Amino acid sequence: MASAYLSIEQVGKSFTRGGSTTQVLADIDLKVGRGEYISIIGHSGCGKSTLLNIVAGLTPVSTGAVLLDNSEVNAPGPDRAVVFQNHSLLPWLTVYDNVRLAVDKVFRGRKSAAERHDWTMHNLDLVQMAHARTRRPSEISGGMKQRVGIARALAMEPKVLLLDEPFGALDALTRAHLQDSVMQIHASLGNTVMMITHDVDEAVLLSDRIVMMTNGPAARIGEILDVPLARPRERLDLVADPTYLRCRAAVLKFLYERHRLVEAA
Ligand SMILES: Nc1ncnc2c1ncn2[C@@H]1O[C@H](COP(=O)(O)OP(=O)(O)O)[C@@H](O)[C@H]1O
Ligand SMILES: [Mg+2]
Repeated sequence: MASAYLSIEQVGKSFTRGGSTTQVLADIDLKVGRGEYISIIGHSGCGKSTLLNIVAGLTPVSTGAVLLDNSEVNAPGPDRAVVFQNHSLLPWLTVYDNVRLAVDKVFRGRKSAAERHDWTMHNLDLVQMAHARTRRPSEISGGMKQRVGIARALAMEPKVLLLDEPFGALDALTRAHLQDSVMQIHASLGNTVMMITHDVDEAVLLSDRIVMMTNGPAARIGEILDVPLARPRERLDLVADPTYLRCRAAVLKFLYERHRLVEAA
């Protein structure tokens, strides 16, 4: 593995509500290399979003620390752009202005207005949304909204792209197209990505490594699986690829066994 660019060190998280404290995450240790595509998979409620929000700086750790490029993370910042399952576009702004707003925020003073325009258009092009730049979020499909959200995140030139089930609300075909777009973008830009998913095929198709979390409370990293599939990856070729099938089976086995554990408890 590459040297640690993003380092999650002994992170634990507890929430206190109404006088009772629940430990959600325990002893999370993870090193992510620059340019690596990591997926976090685990059952609903185990703490995946909590972990992503900690890396985003939206949720403080209870114990441990997160380091990105040797700096400690303790607040949100443009070096960590997040894309959520439900797009968070501003409904009164056009597609263009939703991206431009972020570009202006990050690059004002560093790029001229003309450069910020070009950069906005470049990122809309990357996700094939330049043609819809004058539309508002209510006038485009769910998949298109996620594309705009991804363009906005990329436009910030983050050190890490944080994706929280970004394709979770989409139909299968739209999801497949968007996965392919994200793979192409990752191949050409070399982004460091941490993606949460509960879709086994999505995890295997996109990831260099899959981090499998145990069920909560006090969820931990159960196993980390390497996905040694050459890139670029073609989904149709992979359906019969022995390495793909082995990885898929390993993740399913992990999730199924953990799930059974909960049902038996
Ligand atoms: N702000 C909060 N206050 C209290 N409990 C929370 C808070 N955020 C998340 N939790 C709890 O932490 C656990 C993990 O939630 P989450 O990280 O959203 O799981 P996942 O994304 O894996 O489905 C859940 O039991 C949830 O209720
Ligand atoms: Mg979640």
